Amino acid sequence: MSIHLNEDIIEEIRSRNEIVDVISRYIQLNKSGRNHKGLCPFHHEKTPSFMVSEEKQLYHCFGCGEAGNVINFVMKVENLDFLDTVTLMGQWVGIHVEEISSTKQEKEEISRKNKIYEINREAALFYYRNLSKEKNLGFTYFKKRGLQDNTIKKFGLGYAEDQWEALNTHLLKRGYDQELIFQAGLVLERKSKDGFYDRFRNRVIFPIINTTGNVLGFGGRSLDDSLPKYLNSPETLVFNKGNNLFGLNLAKKEVGKDKRIIVVEGYMDVISLHQYDIKNVVASLGTALTKNQGELLKRYSDEIIIAYDSDAAGQKATLRGLDVLGELGCKVRVVRLTEAKDPDDFIKHKGKEAFLKEIEKALPLIDYKILLAKMDNNISTTDGKIKFVKAVAALLKQVKSPVEVDAYIKKVAMESQISEEAIKREIFGNNAYNQLNPIQKPIQNRDKYRSKSDRYTNKYNVQSVQPVQPAQKQGYLEAERSLLKLMIQNKETFSKIKIAIGHEDFTDSINRKIAKVIYDLYNIQEQNVDMNMLLNHLDIEEIKTLGDIHQILISEEYLEKALIDFINTIHNHRLREERRLIETELSQLGKKENKTQEEIVRIRELCTNLEKISKELQKL
Ligand code: CTP
Ligand code: MN
Repeated sequence: MSIHLNEDIIEEIRSRNEIVDVISRYIQLNKSGRNHKGLCPFHHEKTPSFMVSEEKQLYHCFGCGEAGNVINFVMKVENLDFLDTVTLMGQWVGIHVEEISSTKQEKEEISRKNKIYEINREAALFYYRNLSKEKNLGFTYFKKRGLQDNTIKKFGLGYAEDQWEALNTHLLKRGYDQELIFQAGLVLERKSKDGFYDRFRNRVIFPIINTTGNVLGFGGRSLDDSLPKYLNSPETLVFNKGNNLFGLNLAKKEVGKDKRIIVVEGYMDVISLHQYDIKNVVASLGTALTKNQGELLKRYSDEIIIAYDSDAAGQKATLRGLDVLGELGCKVRVVRLTEAKDPDDFIKHKGKEAFLKEIEKALPLIDYKILLAKMDNNISTTDGKIKFVKAVAALLKQVKSPVEVDAYIKKVAMESQISEEAIKREIFGNNAYNQLNPIQKPIQNRDKYRSKSDRYTNKYNVQSVQPVQPAQKQGYLEAERSLLKLMIQNKETFSKIKIAIGHEDFTDSINRKIAKVIYDLYNIQEQNVDMNMLLNHLDIEEIKTLGDIHQILISEEYLEKALIDFINTIHNHRLREERRLIETELSQLGKKENKTQEEIVRIRELCTNLEKISKELQKL
């Protein structure tokens, strides 16, 4: 949808936000030749490989490959979507995106989002004031749980009184629109449809604030054992549980020189640890960590320590979180709190030093998994031992460093009294063993079992279909990217390409997305589409590919010929793909014993298509 935003305005915002100036607010940049250089904020490094070009107004990290313009940078570093980023950056330079964005629908959406932020802020203030009023159940509750006044203030904690319409009335009085108050998730509609009532009643309130300081939503805890214990804001235009972490707004400044963040489960864990001066803590809002949350964490930290509740549910959640973080390549360790229910409980009973000790003792991801495997299996029995070793082998297969694998094998062997040799065989397999059991080859020729009606299939020798070779795959990918390169900054070439190929003809999904943006942009404007314009519409993954495309060199001399070649390669690939699908279907139909009339018709149809495709392929 960002495609409808007025290009001139985005361009204005981009150019008024000078890239070196903006990035310098986040990291230290030093001049180095024509560029500026610094430590990449998107991955961990000790020698700077993050380059910012003042001239081109682009950044690129040679270490992790992140690249883009100033808008992409802010988007990534602040974890905002395109619209929010442009709005924020507009504010920095005095441009109100909301007033000038091109379509009516967009204007409305931006204004709605901003209004919801405003309403949330007002609601947070309202709840906070309730709590600071003398004598109220919320304040008593927090005091009972040991919270100090400055903690309440720092987190902006609040109280929703035991009334049906207190907040709604307040917000209406302040002039906010009923529909928007509803969209902010703060009220629910009465069954009778004749009004609204407050979602949070007689609960203490935890506002959820993002890294730019906007209030996204709320969590509300009951004051006693009544259920549900926690009630959260629903998904709204500005709130998505899986995209945010409670406390990150405070923790991001507290990661210290180790750049470490502790992840806990609950609001109260974060708050409690803060009171003990442990401030690099966030809560995952009660769900298993999502990829999005993992990426957020990775952006602000080098090491993630998981300190979940000690119950079984907590352990399951831990494992799922670990997998997500592991896949993202984060360094992860896990605390096992055995003597308390959760970090809040632990620190209250054992104190700060004991908690910090647990953090230091935290197990690396793989050790934690091995430990769980050990607890799952009774290794004093033979059966348990075998299961344990199999589980460990599966885990160690994922470890890349041979030195580490070796160390773990030794450790596991000692613990389980199983020989290192046996564990190794379980991990690496045994070549001699494999040779004795060759993988069964598929049956080559079943012609003699076939009925007459599929003689058509024989003609094309379906059984000898070969899988697409990787080399071929590379060919069309490169052709696609080269074509994209040729379209950028050259409307004339684009017009030629457009005749032969549509954006939907690009097979690779990222290439297709880039193509779509280029086609769309050329559709709505006269001038050449350049790299900078594209960057505004792509997410970081796509920008990486765009970076590769940027590197492609095509000699002017052979341009015409190259163009034809690329187009042919893409057509060729498409046809081959179609042929492959037809052949697969034919082969499946061919195997059937008793074919229905429809199936026979289908086979004929497929064969006709196959013939067509073959002819087209010959022409290319
Ligand atoms: N949670 C939730 N909805 C629930 C229960 C839990 O959203 N019905 C989320 C909350 O974010 C909560 C976290 O899961 O903070 C952890 O749950 P739990 O351990 O039950 O709560 P604590 O934060 O430990 O709260 P307390 O100490 O008050 O029991
Ligand atoms: Mn808990």
